Amino acid sequence: MADSPLRIELIPNGPAMVQTDSAEIKLADGSIVTKDKPFALCRCGQSANKPFCDGTHTKAGFEG
Ligand code: FES
Repeated sequence: MADSPLRIELIPNGPAMVQTDSAEIKLADGSIVTKDKPFALCRCGQSANKPFCDGTHTKAGFEG
């Protein structure tokens, strides 16, 4: 996937799926989280594990 552009897929009424084999995410507190597979970023604002999706969007009835 290294030669392909990064793909971010917005899931209807759900998260933003980051399609990657490897990523470093710098969090708001300055810490770095490493992901070695695709991951989901919360778009609904209700996740208890921000910035990552924890599935709460379903219970929250997120539309977008
Ligand atoms: S998009 Fe899934 S918890 Fe927010």
